[in-house]
Amino acid sequence: MTLRVDAARLHGRIAELASIGDTGDGGNCRLALTDDDKAGRDLLVTWMRDLGLRIDIDAIGNITGTWPADATEPPVMCGSHIDTVRTGGRYDGNLGVLAGLEVIETVITQGVVLARPLCVGIFTDEEGSRFAPDMLGSLVFVGGMAVEEALDITDRDGLVLGDELARIGYAGPLPCPRATPHAYVELHVEQGPVLESTGTTIGAVTGIQGISWQEITITGQPNHAGTTPMHLRRDAGLVAAQIAVAARELTDTSSGPNVATVGRLDLHPDLVNVVAGRAILTLDMRDIDDAVLAAAEEHMAIICAELAADEQVTIETRSLARFEPVAFDEDMVRLVEDVAIIHGHSVMHLPSGAGHDAQMLARVCPSGMVFVPSVGGISHNPAEYTREEHVEAGANVLLELMVRLAE
Ligand code: GLV
Ligand code: MN
Ligand code: MN
Repeated sequence: MTLRVDAARLHGRIAELASIGDTGDGGNCRLALTDDDKAGRDLLVTWMRDLGLRIDIDAIGNITGTWPADATEPPVMCGSHIDTVRTGGRYDGNLGVLAGLEVIETVITQGVVLARPLCVGIFTDEEGSRFAPDMLGSLVFVGGMAVEEALDITDRDGLVLGDELARIGYAGPLPCPRATPHAYVELHVEQGPVLESTGTTIGAVTGIQGISWQEITITGQPNHAGTTPMHLRRDAGLVAAQIAVAARELTDTSSGPNVATVGRLDLHPDLVNVVAGRAILTLDMRDIDDAVLAAAEEHMAIICAELAADEQVTIETRSLARFEPVAFDEDMVRLVEDVAIIHGHSVMHLPSGAGHDAQMLARVCPSGMVFVPSVGGISHNPAEYTREEHVEAGANVLLELMVRLAE
């Protein structure tokens, strides 16, 4: 008998999780460690408990559900995240977690006997939109950052991660780094246009591009918009705009980074008739080649110094995240491809533009990722959508991958 997930149950759970933090426009807002993140976690923990999984919560709030509950061997692990950006969709992260749960439920209800335990993980604060860096929970899981350091991170309002984690009741007893899994596989929506535009159902992900996040604070002089002559201005808003343009221009050069984004810009005092005295912006740059990314960081530092001198402002830069590019285990990439072909799907190799928990797990165990198409390549947007047949195809590929790795 061919093993298949219960697609209706999976679609039902995607909808039920999406009802928590529903933004009313098809999207989701479950920023990390908010009340809605807690409600989403509570729902997943209920489902895991009903299935008889062993639930473990660690000091950074990662939740794992393991089957059999008394397993001691390193498990074949899958997972992802259920936190979202403020204007998120219902698939990013959620699919990997819910499909993982579905895989384990299928194995249990079908009475499949495996040599290794299975585990599904929900990693804390993958998005990093509230507490930078991104992939924080999985970073701490593998020992890439000490728990104490992570718990001290603050959000924009000065709220401390450790306090927020305790407030929602997910500061768990298990220490980090956690025990190393046997292998890790993550199903995720592509969040880009490649699979859809090539008519491909499954992506065998080869790696993840490097990420550089910086917060840039520009301090000039707030002054009257009507009376201050242009040549006497120290305009932080102007410099912020020039930095955004310089980053875009850098991507247009042959040696520039693949992508660059100024996604956040706060001006102070933020008034129609006052020259901005302070600007705080974020710069996200990514490339598959770490040397290109490093050169882009250097280039932007030089540009900032020139702009600061020209406009008589000061510029301070703080690193929010810096992760090198990751190449996934070649055997895992091949296995994803083989399984997709056996299932009769079109498949292609592609790198990931987005960051994922799998890039952290790749530091400690063979790791791989399965992508399914995103309609219109839209993500981090309420309109994010993946067709039901692609959700089902991805979940069945994940099922077979986990079974093979656990046999
Ligand atoms: C995080 O998931 C990112 O790629 O921004
Ligand atoms: Mn994600
Ligand atoms: Mn995301």
